[in-house]
Amino acid sequence: MKETAVVACLLAELSLAAFVLASEGATRCPALCRCEIRPWFSPSSIYTEAATVDCNDLGLSALPERLPLETQVLLLQTNNIVNVEKTLDYLANITEIDLSQNNISSVSDVCLGSLPQLLSLHMEENWIQELSDGCLASLPNLQEFYINHNLISSISPGAFRGLGRLLRLHLNSNRLTRINSQWFQQLPSLEILMLGENPILELSDMNFKPLANLRSLVLARMNLTEIPDNTLVGLENLESISFFDNLLNRVPRAALTRVQNLKFLDLNKNPIERIQRGDFMDMMHLKELGINSMPELISIDSFALNNLPELTKIEATNNPRLSYIHPRAFHKLPRLETLMLNSNALSALHRSTVESLPNLREVSLHSNPIRCDCVIRWVNMNRTAVRFMEPDSLFCVEPPEYQGQHVRQVHFREMMEICLPLISPGSLPDRVEVGKGSSVSLHCRAFGEPEPEIYWVTPPGDRVLPGSVSDKYYMHPEGTFDIYDASEQEAGSYTCIAHNLVGADLKSVMVVVDGYFAEPSSQPLHVYITSVQSHSVMVSWESAGGLVSQLNWSVLAGGTGLLLPFTARLPADVREYHIKQLRPSTRYQVCVEVTAAQSGYNRDCVNVTTKEAAVPREKPENWDGVVMAACAVFFIVVAVACSVIYTSLYSQVFYRKLIVDPDETLLIPSDNSSFSSSFLEFGASGVKVRATVIDLPDNSM
Ligand SMILES: *[C@@H]1O[C@H](CO)[C@@H](O)[C@H](O)[C@H]1NC(C)=O
Ligand SMILES: *[C@@H]1O[C@H](CO)[C@@H](O)[C@H](O)[C@H]1NC(C)=O
Ligand SMILES: *[C@@H]1O[C@H](CO)[C@@H](O)[C@H](O)[C@H]1NC(C)=O
Ligand SMILES: *[C@@H]1O[C@H](CO)[C@@H](O)[C@H](O)[C@H]1NC(C)=O
Ligand SMILES: *[C@@H]1O[C@H](CO)[C@@H](O)[C@H](O)[C@H]1NC(C)=O
Ligand SMILES: *[C@@H]1O[C@H](CO)[C@@H](O)[C@H](O)[C@H]1NC(C)=O
Repeated sequence: MKETAVVACLLAELSLAAFVLASEGATRCPALCRCEIRPWFSPSSIYTEAATVDCNDLGLSALPERLPLETQVLLLQTNNIVNVEKTLDYLANITEIDLSQNNISSVSDVCLGSLPQLLSLHMEENWIQELSDGCLASLPNLQEFYINHNLISSISPGAFRGLGRLLRLHLNSNRLTRINSQWFQQLPSLEILMLGENPILELSDMNFKPLANLRSLVLARMNLTEIPDNTLVGLENLESISFFDNLLNRVPRAALTRVQNLKFLDLNKNPIERIQRGDFMDMMHLKELGINSMPELISIDSFALNNLPELTKIEATNNPRLSYIHPRAFHKLPRLETLMLNSNALSALHRSTVESLPNLREVSLHSNPIRCDCVIRWVNMNRTAVRFMEPDSLFCVEPPEYQGQHVRQVHFREMMEICLPLISPGSLPDRVEVGKGSSVSLHCRAFGEPEPEIYWVTPPGDRVLPGSVSDKYYMHPEGTFDIYDASEQEAGSYTCIAHNLVGADLKSVMVVVDGYFAEPSSQPLHVYITSVQSHSVMVSWESAGGLVSQLNWSVLAGGTGLLLPFTARLPADVREYHIKQLRPSTRYQVCVEVTAAQSGYNRDCVNVTTKEAAVPREKPENWDGVVMAACAVFFIVVAVACSVIYTSLYSQVFYRKLIVDPDETLLIPSDNSSFSSSFLEFGASGVKVRATVIDLPDNSM
């Protein structure tokens, strides 16, 4: 059936072709082929009409004996041609030959003759194993050569001799294991080079040096793990480069400084964990950056993109672990218009991230697990001219009361202005395995308002602050904790603590070294009361190791109202806790439980009775009024103290805001909220974490 149809069709075409070619009165159209005038686009996309001989998919094992002399385009795709026995010199006007999907195993079997008009040659999807010297030399005007999807494992240094006008070369999907810059010496005009999907073991310095006119280079799917610093030297006019789907674990920043005219950079699908300060810097012409589909990307750190005056678009989408973008990640990007951040693991986007981009028009944030709380609050204050793309797919995932609601429909007054830090769940796994002697990076990032500070606690209980360094570890200011040269000594549980003035969040990760993890020593726990007041008690305990401490207090007997036990989760290194807002003359039971990774938990309780209420000196009857006044005073004290402590510009702005707008800051968790840990003031050696702002000291009046 099909064949008859084809034949019928061909017969019709033949009569047409006969008509078309009749004027010459010369060679007829070859049997079964279709000869007609068809639209044709030159390699530089100029439209013309060309006398086309279409012999595609005819099962031919050789070229037709004679072809019409006026043939310009010869299509022989999907046949079984093994070689070309007779040159095509007689086709004076031939501009394109397509021999793709045939059975050619050597380019020297298809010497086509001297074809000065030929612009485009297709030999993709054959069985070619090597490109030898000089076979293409008689094609002086060739502009496009497609030889991708073959089995080429070797190319002789002079293989491209004579192709001085070649603009486009597709060598992708072959079996090349190395690149020889000598190949390219014959190709001074080349503008587009596709090299992807070759098992190149490594690129070397100066690989592309002769290609001064190259505009686009594709190095996709080559299992590249690094790009040596001088690989891209000489590519003076390179505008676009793709490293799509390689094994780069960091941005090849030094190599990229060699291509000063780059406009489009594609790093998609590489196992890069962090985009860090200096990764993209001073690329004066970069217009678009793609950092999509990166399975390991966790964080875009401060000043990651800095001084890119032409950058108009950033695409960082479909990164399943990307859970943090630093408020100052983008700096000096005056032209940035589009920020695509959809389909990541972001719980928020800082207002200052967006405000640092003066020309920003649209942000895509949908399909992220947004926490509809303080950090994202600005989005609904309608003070930004930025458009949010696909708002119908922008949902709240937290807190539970807004789960499933559209982010844009939660009124900003329902979101708190300050809130507890939240360690991005995707940033830290529960457990990492390291080989002895190797290194590991633990990434901890947290969103919160004010911006949280981060420190780590090591298995022996040492507190490691940002910037700390030893021969075994380094803590980056961003929150990443690097462990070097791991041994059994380094095995154990590391805890990240993110804290701000509202409270703290923590997450632990078990580091296993060659299958070994340290048993935290479980000494008996002993809890005691160190001071008792009418409204507060101070509890201390002694224990070694453990991951987390949990503290419970509840009224033992005769209590009124306080039926639920209060719970606080504390970092393992905190051994003291000030329980506040207790009732006078009440008997409480306080329990502390220290959880260890392996040996379960340790628990100890004490009973304590608070003191009688002191005789009121100036007891606040009108809680609201007095507290408001007290708050204002306290805010100023806190603000002054803090502006000294927190030197960062951002914090200063925040505290200035606290002073001018104290009413709003009273939107703080109340007693029965789940934020009981915010009513605390815990301190160990070093940094002191202060509790909520409304938690007034007894003597503040
Ligand atoms: C080749 O093209 C030229 C210019 O269009 C034309 O004059 C000439 O007749 C063509 N040659 C053949 C064999 O068709
Ligand atoms: C292609 O050529 C090989 C030998 O090089 C031969 O074994 C194979 O049968 C040919 N394939 C077709 C479809 O003709
Ligand atoms: C890259 O590595 C994978 C897995 O080892 C392998 O299957 C693939 O063929 C390699 N690709 C290239 C171009 O070497
Ligand atoms: C912000 O704008 C949206 C859409 O225009 C509107 O639905 C919402 O009520 C506005 N919110 C505020 C706080 O003005
Ligand atoms: C806290 O109290 C609850 C209820 O009494 C109890 O189930 C839980 O085990 C206690 N936790 C600790 C750490 O004491
Ligand atoms: C605390 O009081 C409870 C109830 O009276 C009692 O069961 C418990 O043994 C006491 N605990 C201590 C440590 O005295």
